[in-house]
Amino acid sequence: MMTILLQWSVEQLQPYVTQTREEILAVLEVPPRPGLGDVAFPCYALAREWRKPPDAIAEELAARFNEGASGVSAQAAGPYLNLSFDPQQWAPKLLAAALAHDYGHSAVGQGQRVIIDMSSPNIAKPFGVGHLRSTMIGNALANLYRISGYEVVTVNHIGDWGTQFGKLMEAYKRWGNEEVLKEAPIRESLRLYVKFHEETEEDDTLEAEARRWFWRLENGDAEALRLWQYFVSVSLEEFERVYARLGVKFDHTLGESFYNDKMEAVVSQLRELELLEESDGAQVVRLDDEGVPPCLILKSDGTTIYPTRDLATALYRKTEMNGDLLLYVVGGEQKLHFQQVFHVLKRMGVGWSHQCRHIPFGLMKIDGRKMSTRKGQVVYLDEVLDEAVRKAEEIIEEKNAALDNRREVAEAVGIGAIVFGDLKHNRMLEVDFSLDEAIKFEGETGPYVQYTAARGYKLLKTGMDKGLAVDEILQDGVYLYSAAAWECLKMVAAYPAAIEEALRVHEPSVLARHLLEVSKSFNRFYNQDRVITESSEETLAKLGIVAAAVQVLRSGLQLLGVKSPQQI
Ligand code: ARG
Repeated sequence: MMTILLQWSVEQLQPYVTQTREEILAVLEVPPRPGLGDVAFPCYALAREWRKPPDAIAEELAARFNEGASGVSAQAAGPYLNLSFDPQQWAPKLLAAALAHDYGHSAVGQGQRVIIDMSSPNIAKPFGVGHLRSTMIGNALANLYRISGYEVVTVNHIGDWGTQFGKLMEAYKRWGNEEVLKEAPIRESLRLYVKFHEETEEDDTLEAEARRWFWRLENGDAEALRLWQYFVSVSLEEFERVYARLGVKFDHTLGESFYNDKMEAVVSQLRELELLEESDGAQVVRLDDEGVPPCLILKSDGTTIYPTRDLATALYRKTEMNGDLLLYVVGGEQKLHFQQVFHVLKRMGVGWSHQCRHIPFGLMKIDGRKMSTRKGQVVYLDEVLDEAVRKAEEIIEEKNAALDNRREVAEAVGIGAIVFGDLKHNRMLEVDFSLDEAIKFEGETGPYVQYTAARGYKLLKTGMDKGLAVDEILQDGVYLYSAAAWECLKMVAAYPAAIEEALRVHEPSVLARHLLEVSKSFNRFYNQDRVITESSEETLAKLGIVAAAVQVLRSGLQLLGVKSPQQI
């Protein structure tokens, strides 16, 4: 994953081999150890054509290559031809690219609009760990799409409709009061919800009352509407506080209720297309040919249901919002739901169902705690965030007690630890999150990357204080680069490729892990080379690498939704 060097290698090799550019690029490898050069070209493919053993070809190529080329040397190692780029000549080119202000940007997505369904918590229920993952993964993907030239529209598809509101209204009328609800909307709603379920076991009128409330709501009853609006607004306010702490914004917050008046059209369209069939009194679309269970459209009492709403939503996002790509960042447990919805769209003949994609992710536990709403055992996200910030504050206290804006930095580090700790894992993995591990400043953590960036920033500042400005860095690249410096620069050079790959597989973890590699190589360089030396020429050349690494770490963290304080 180091596109620029690979591309240069293709150019270097082409005059000597009979393969096409694409064929060369496809076989190039990164050698497993630094001593083996920068890029390895395996000679197997040529062996057949040239009727010689690959080892002999490698020898022959190395000899011819070294006669001709300058700035790159070749070495045969068994069947491999290893290329080493002379840092003296190539480092300035890598640096020039990396120090450009739009490093990492591309225009591949120009003219394409992506709609991202993300976060989407449910009103009157806690913001679950799954919603946190959806928020973080969705936010990182939105940033990755944006930096790649796409137009991105993020939508928070709030769960603000459903029979649970009937239960909540009944419970509120019986056991609730406005003050308590306003004080702690989610906790109080959850208490009411749990109490409702406990009491139904004794009192069987409760369920019927709840159904009546929901019926009133669906039929526009003023009191039911007023209560509903109240529940929605207090819950949203609480969610907003979490989003503000996470630094996440949405282009639209459109609840499920937004589609209430758009459902009938979907149902009648399905009916006209003769896709609806009866099944135990309910209306379904059969998907036997797709090998998927039928998709429920209308319940036996004639009411619409989750999939119906998602059909209306998708149609809206396509036709009203003009999305070219519709992404749904939702837990893996909803895989079947999205399969069904997308298949039904296809059966409706929309012609764009392949532009819909579910981006699933696995379950996450925080220190072994899982969330389950029914029993009321819940991890409250704001508590987890507070806990992380407290721990970060303790560590900072130890490391740098003199730091002025300690609270602010602790907030960035504590929350950054959670976000990065989540995003560094392949999204499908079930993550058992240990807060203590995630918050460490050593190891593969967010704070480690943040700390590395701050350390680099400090070096730049020292340079500036000596009058060595970063804009002079590129003027003169004459300096013998150490192996550590060169390795760090190569990691920096691979940043655009990491972004490209992260986007291709919809995996922020590809970028997160790349930032860990950049940090490790930077720290090796930092520990082995003295950056600030007597010679200002040498210092400037080294500061160039520092500046490029800092740039990549800070912009990469930003893409992931993690802040990077200048001082820690
Ligand atoms: N509110 C739902 C839940 O918590 C997630 C909604 C996901 N988005 C969608 N368009 N279905 O399970």
